[in-house]
Amino acid sequence: MKVLVIGSGGREHALAWRLRQSPSVKEVYATPGNPGIAQVAHCDSTRDYVQFAQRLGVDLTVVGPEAPLVAGVVDQFRALGMPIVGPTAANAALEGSKVHSKRFMHRIGVPTARFETATTPAEARTALLAFRYPVVLKTDGLAAGKGVVIAQNPAEAEEAIQQLPCPLVIEEFLSGEEVSFIVLCDGKKALALEPSQDHKRIFDNDQGPNTGGMGAYSDSLILTPEQRGHILETIINPVVSATHFTGFLYAGLMMTPEGPSVLEFNVRMGDPETQPLMMRLRSDWGETLLAAATGALPDTLEWDPNPATCIVLAAEAYPNTPKTGQVIEGLDTPGDAVVFHAGTKAVDGKIVTSGGRVLGVTAKGATLRESIDKAYRAVANIRFEGMQYRKDIGQKGLKRYNT
Ligand code: AMP
Ligand code: GLY
Repeated sequence: MKVLVIGSGGREHALAWRLRQSPSVKEVYATPGNPGIAQVAHCDSTRDYVQFAQRLGVDLTVVGPEAPLVAGVVDQFRALGMPIVGPTAANAALEGSKVHSKRFMHRIGVPTARFETATTPAEARTALLAFRYPVVLKTDGLAAGKGVVIAQNPAEAEEAIQQLPCPLVIEEFLSGEEVSFIVLCDGKKALALEPSQDHKRIFDNDQGPNTGGMGAYSDSLILTPEQRGHILETIINPVVSATHFTGFLYAGLMMTPEGPSVLEFNVRMGDPETQPLMMRLRSDWGETLLAAATGALPDTLEWDPNPATCIVLAAEAYPNTPKTGQVIEGLDTPGDAVVFHAGTKAVDGKIVTSGGRVLGVTAKGATLRESIDKAYRAVANIRFEGMQYRKDIGQKGLKRYNT
C-alpha cells in the first residue's frame, strides 16, 4: 500500500523510516517532510492534505503533529471515506485545550492533579490562594511544550500570570517519575505501545525551562505488567469508552506514591518518544496503522526487548528563538545509530539547521546503558555551531533499573 505521513519533525522521520521497512508498504509519501524524511519517502510541501492524498491514491494517512488534528484533518478525510490515523477535532481538544482536558478527566474520574481554572489574571491570583508552592500554571491552548510554568513562590507565580496567555489552569504540583504511556486506538479499544520517558527540561539534571523534549528512551522495565494493566483500566479505557477515541492517545503520567496521575493528554505520538519506539517495534507498522484506521486493531504488537535511546541535538538559544542556518557536519557517519532529522533544511547541497530541535540520534542496545553509549558515540561525530544537548539522557533509568 501507499502511506502518507503528515509532518516534518523527528517523530515523522521515525514513522516514515519504520513504514519504509514494513512489508505491507510499497511507497511512503510525506508532507512537508524534511531532508531526512526524503531519504525514505517522497516529500512534497503541499498543505492541501486531502487533495495530495487523493492525487497520489494513498491507502492510508498518518498524522504526526497536533496542529492539523486540532484543525480537523481527520474529519475531512473521514467525510470522504479516506482511511487516516488520528482523532477527530472534537477529541483532539483533549490536547488542544487544557481547561477542557482537565474538566473532562475530573468528570469521568481519571486521576489528575487538583486544579482551578482562570479566565483573567485577577481570577488566577484568587485561584492561587488555594494552593501551596510549588504550584503549576498552564496556558489553555497549544504551546509546543512551553506553556507550563512551575512557580516556586508567589513572585514566580505572578511572573507566570503575566507571561502566559489566559485562560489558565492552576494545579497542584505532583512529584514522582514521569512516564509517557502511548496507546493506539481504533474507536473501540486501545493497544499500548511500550513505555518511554522524555526529558523535558533544556539542561542536565532537569534544570532550566521546559522544551518540546531533549531526549527519550524506551525500556520495557519502565513499567511492570501490573502497572500497565492498572493504567489501562483507570486511565486509558475510560477515556476511549467516553470518546470513541481513534489514533494515538498519549498519557503524560506522573507515577506518584498514590498511583499514576495524568499530567496531560496528547492526541498524537510523542516527539522524541517516537524515535526509540520505532526503533524497537517489530510488527508491520503499515498493517497495524491500517487496522487502527479501519476499526480492526490487533490485540498485541511485537517489540524488540532491547531498549533504545534518542539524544536530541538542539540549536543555540533553544528553547528561545533558535539560531538557524548552521551547516551540519558528520551526518554520514552515524555508526550504530540512526540520525532522525527534525529542524533541518537542504541548502546548496548542504544540510543546515532550520529549527530548535535539529536531530534525534537514536540507538538500540542489549541494555539501556549500551543503547545510551551507542547513541552518545554517534553524537560525537556530529557538529554544528552552537549545538547543545543533554549529557544525562537515560541516567535516571540506569539508576532505577540498574541495567
Ligand atoms: P504538560 O505540558 O502538562 O505535560 O507539562 C509539561 C511538563 O511540566 C510535564 O512534563 C512535567 O514535567 C511538568 N508538570 C506539568 N504538570 C505538573 C504537575 N502537576 N506537577 C509537577 N510537574 C508538572
Ligand atoms: N515529548 C513530549 C511531547 O511530544 O509532547
